[in-house]
Amino acid sequence: MKKCKQPVLARLSYAETFAVLVAVGGPLLAKGIMVRRPMVVGVLQATGLEGAAVRLLQQLRRRHGPGPLMLRLPGREQAVLLSPTDVCRVLAQTPEPFETDSSEKHATLAHFEPEGSLISRGGERAERRALSDRALESDRPIHSLAPNVRTVIEQEIAALLHNAEQVSWGAFKDGWFRIVRRCLFGDAVADDRDLVDMLIRLRSAGNWSFLHARRRTLRARFLSRVAAYLHAAPVGTLGAQVAAHATNRSAAESQVSQWLFAFDAAGIATFRALALIAADERAAARAQRRGSDLSVPARLPAGIGETVADHTRHPPPDRPCDGLGRQHHGEGHRYPHPRALHAPGRRTPAVRAPVRTGDLA
Ligand code: HEM
Repeated sequence: MKKCKQPVLARLSYAETFAVLVAVGGPLLAKGIMVRRPMVVGVLQATGLEGAAVRLLQQLRRRHGPGPLMLRLPGREQAVLLSPTDVCRVLAQTPEPFETDSSEKHATLAHFEPEGSLISRGGERAERRALSDRALESDRPIHSLAPNVRTVIEQEIAALLHNAEQVSWGAFKDGWFRIVRRCLFGDAVADDRDLVDMLIRLRSAGNWSFLHARRRTLRARFLSRVAAYLHAAPVGTLGAQVAAHATNRSAAESQVSQWLFAFDAAGIATFRALALIAADERAAARAQRRGSDLSVPARLPAGIGETVADHTRHPPPDRPCDGLGRQHHGEGHRYPHPRALHAPGRRTPAVRAPVRTGDLA
């Protein structure tokens, strides 16, 4: 058999490995992988502990080069990615040779999306991922439902800003998830806050991965509600697109659970970007000049890219990286994040958000 030459990767010492686990892994686990614990996020921000983690990774990069760097762990081979190129490569070459379905991630995500594409393999993974690709129209720069999405956003933002001097994270989050529910399942589901509450409870269990017993009854209730909403989703919603493309093996409700989970991150990144824009007059003026024409592909507004990069600083533990993962989606960045949800409306810069990012993410 022909021998395949593997590159020899630099390996950290035991002391360096320990430092990475404590300084980088510690805050990540403490603040919650699946759902952030606001108090811990506040403490980390106040103490600057995450800054120390970034400095440690920078130091290791200076000492050993751009990586990947192998940790020294008993019975386990694990690399830390330090360069954007490596991060992009891993994401682009998923699922072969870089599999998404690691045991930790499986244990974590199975709390709320037991048949999600990220924790599936082979033909099942392909079919499940294809359902998301088709419904989200990954191959198109602008989703065909963008005009509907835009209408929903304009209505919800108008309601949010009505008589509001300031927009708090709580109010924004409520409005955001009304948008998400309406775009996914239709107007009849706009007020079902319980859906997201159930998901948050399941994600909180997911924060403990293997260590938390499955909340099977709650999970079944959540997934069957998602399935019922998909079944009833009116034409013109993303849910109807999912229902149209679902197959027996695609486990639609698990894929949509991943979306609901991911929309939380998208909302956090958007609010952080708005807070940044609101705090900088020139950025606000620039954003205002750009308008919000969703009929043509547009670059993400100033601030969003940075906040998304910041949000991805702590990806799931099987693929630690240094936060430079500019290309943050699997399979060659073909994944469309619904741009419509990211594009600022004309009134966006008027949002005067109190910048208390400790409440976020
Ligand atoms: C700030 C917002 C977001 C960030 C930072 C983000 C990041 C990521 C990352 C890093 C992955 C790869 C995970 C892995 O390989 O383990 C991923 C996968 C995925 N994301 Fe997002 N995402 C965001 C928003 C969204 C939204 C809004 C949707 C849906 C509407 C979405 C749908 C998905 C799906 C379906 C996958 C699984 C892809 C697969 O199985 O290969 N994401 N996301």
